[in-house]
This record gives sequence, structure tokens and C-alpha cells, in this order.
Amino acid sequence: MTVHFIGAGPGAPDLITLRGRDLIAASPVCLYAGSLVPKALLEHCPPGARIVDTAPMSLDEIIAEIAAAHAAGRDVARLHSGDLSVWSAMGEQLRRLDELAIPYDVTPGVPAFAAAAATLKRELTLPGLAQSLVLTRTSGRASAMPEGETLAAFAATGATLAVHLSIHVLDKVVAELAPFFGADCPVAVVYRASWPDEKVIRGTLATIADLVAADPIERTALILVGPALGAEDFGTSALYDADYQRRFRGRDRRAGDDS
Ligand SMILES: C[S@@+](CC[C@H](N)C(=O)[O-])C[C@H]1O[C@@H](n2cnc3c(N)ncnc32)[C@H](O)[C@@H]1O
Repeated sequence: MTVHFIGAGPGAPDLITLRGRDLIAASPVCLYAGSLVPKALLEHCPPGARIVDTAPMSLDEIIAEIAAAHAAGRDVARLHSGDLSVWSAMGEQLRRLDELAIPYDVTPGVPAFAAAAATLKRELTLPGLAQSLVLTRTSGRASAMPEGETLAAFAATGATLAVHLSIHVLDKVVAELAPFFGADCPVAVVYRASWPDEKVIRGTLATIADLVAADPIERTALILVGPALGAEDFGTSALYDADYQRRFRGRDRRAGDDS
């Protein structure tokens, strides 16, 4: 028996890996994390599967479900939105499964930031402008930010920021970032990327709060900030430069998929 932790992707039901889909189909128990996991994925569950929404459950209750499946020798598909490496609460579940000696594996998923970038049709790292992407959030009821992980500290680097779980404090995000990026810095808010009701609001740090206030978004949105969001005058990477191809191809492997 194994608990399969599966990244369910950002929303569109076909944005799951083939491995994830096949594991769902092979597992007689499916625990899924509430509203952010698309219900259409549950259609992959085998007939008669036990399907449980864990949104209203405590960690103890979730572990009890898994322990019962373990006792019965039934595999569990455990679905969380996006990828499991960020804000999935997988860590605390794995720790409990380790204590109980219940086996598990992990299948990655498409994270929200990647879906939002695809919606925008933007590369978030552009030559000379931004070569780093910071996945971050602001403090919430359930989790305070560790000291040092402030928006200001990340903004000071000039990297592209993908600010999660923060659309309800957009004003505060803008106020913290503007001194570093400048009021003209491009911002994109992507609501429910890849869902049928996906919405994009583009602006700058000076305008985005008013634009969103005029078309309210309360949750499940990503705030992407940084020069890479708007620039068209970025440099060209050396990767596809004809001279680079001739001289370095095969011995200096650096920058991109084809490097
Ligand atoms: C609890 S976190 C889950 C992140 C997820 N594990 C991932 O890999 O992206 C939820 C936050 O991710 C962002 N998010 C998740 N799905 C999204 C989507 N389809 N479009 C835009 N933002 C999304 C929002 O900021 C939301 O508040």
C-alpha cells in the first residue's frame, strides 16, 4: 500500500501529468484538497472509489483516513493543487506518515506561477532584466512569514516576484514594492489561471490597486511583479546567436533548454 501525493495542477483538468492521472485511476481511495483541485480529475478515480474532500478536515482526521486505507491495504491518491513543493501542507502529512511507517511517493504538478505565466504568454526571466523568480507570499492567519522574508527584501533584488495568497492585501503589497521597483513597474494579476473563468488584470504598481478594485478579485490569484512583465526591449540571449552556436556549441553549456 502506498499514499501517492499528486500535484493536481492549477485548475484545467488536462494540466496533470500522465503519471498523476494513472495513479488516481489505480487508487481505490482519493483524498482531494477542496475547491482548488478540479472536480473533473475525480472522474479518473476507479468505480466505487472512496472520494473524500479534505477541506473541512483536521490533520488528525486526514491521517486517520490514510491509516484506515493502510490497514485495509488500499492505495491512496492524495491530491493537492498545483505542485506539492510549495504551500501544499504536504510536509506535515509526510512527517505523520513517517511516524506511522506508511509508505508514500510524490508526483509533481504544474504550479500556479507557471500556469499564470502561460496565460500571460510571458517569460519571467529575461536577459539583462531578471534572471531570478521569487515565489513568495504575505503573512496569513495560518502562517506568519519568517523574519527576513519580507517583500521589501525580495524587491531589493529586482527579481520577478510571484506573490501568492495575497490578493486581499494588494494595497499592502503595492506599498511595500513601489519604493524598490518604482511606480511604473509592470504588474499582472492572474485570477484562476487555466480555469474557465480565468481573468487577467494588467497595470503598474501605480494603477493595479484601482484596476483590481474596479473588477474585484478576492482569492485564488497570483500577483506577478517586475520589469520582465512588461519589457519588450530586453536583450537577446547568447544561446541562439549564430556566433555562439559556431564557437561554443557542445562545450559551454549554459542558458536554456537547448544549451
Ligand atoms: C495554497 S497556495 C497553493 C499553491 C500551489 N501548491 C502551487 O503549486 O501553485 C494557493 C495560492 O496559489 C495561487 N494559485 C493557485 N492556483 C492558482 C491559479 N489557478 N491561478 C492563479 N493563482 C493560483 C493563489 O495565490 C492562491 O492563493
